[in-house]
Amino acid sequence: MGLKIIWLGHAAFEMTGRKHVLIDPFITGNPVAPKKIGELKPEIIAVTHGHADHFGDTVAIAKRSKAMVVANHEIACYLETKGIEAQGMNFGGSIDLGRGVKITMVPAWHSSGIEEANYGFSGGNACGYVIEDEVKIYDAGDTALFSDMKLIEELHHPEIVLLPIGDRFTMNPQTAAIAAGWLRPEVVIPMHYNTFPPVAQDPKKFAELVRGKSPKTKVVILKPGEVFEY
Ligand code: NI
Ligand code: MN
Repeated sequence: MGLKIIWLGHAAFEMTGRKHVLIDPFITGNPVAPKKIGELKPEIIAVTHGHADHFGDTVAIAKRSKAMVVANHEIACYLETKGIEAQGMNFGGSIDLGRGVKITMVPAWHSSGIEEANYGFSGGNACGYVIEDEVKIYDAGDTALFSDMKLIEELHHPEIVLLPIGDRFTMNPQTAAIAAGWLRPEVVIPMHYNTFPPVAQDPKKFAELVRGKSPKTKVVILKPGEVFEY
């Protein structure tokens, strides 16, 4: 085993297992980003939706690194107009990324207008992803709590779960702890908080609530730039 997850602040994560995957690369304008876009050399970029704090620097990083982008069909079509190699997909479908790594798109309750395109393109639906590398990782994306997370648990049994806790645009510590109770992962990592004042939250409060809902789950609170090794 040797999976590393690096939190780049907000909802941006870098994962290096059998494949080097970057999720929601919001670096430029992210006040807590620990890296510059030139330091990121992913093979795959997975985008959960079109909002600027997720779509972020996808175009610039994909151009530099020649990474392939995975996104919903609508965002993939937009990226192709920018000359980016993108694989579109939709809820319930999977793509084999090679070297035994698979990515599955799962629903999220959110919206997905492409801010970079001034909402002139449809952004499709926001999503989450289950990435099967050395272990299964469920990145919930930006979402409200929804009970089909129980189905995601039944279908995929993710060992590591990334959940937004910032409130206002997504779940908050209370609802994210309910999600953790349904998903019962080995590890949960909170995200989408303390980037800007509207998403200020105390992750320790989330950790305490998770202990009540899923006592065997370890809550890993990362600082931007910190590496979690599984
Ligand atoms: Ni969003
Ligand atoms: Mn967001």
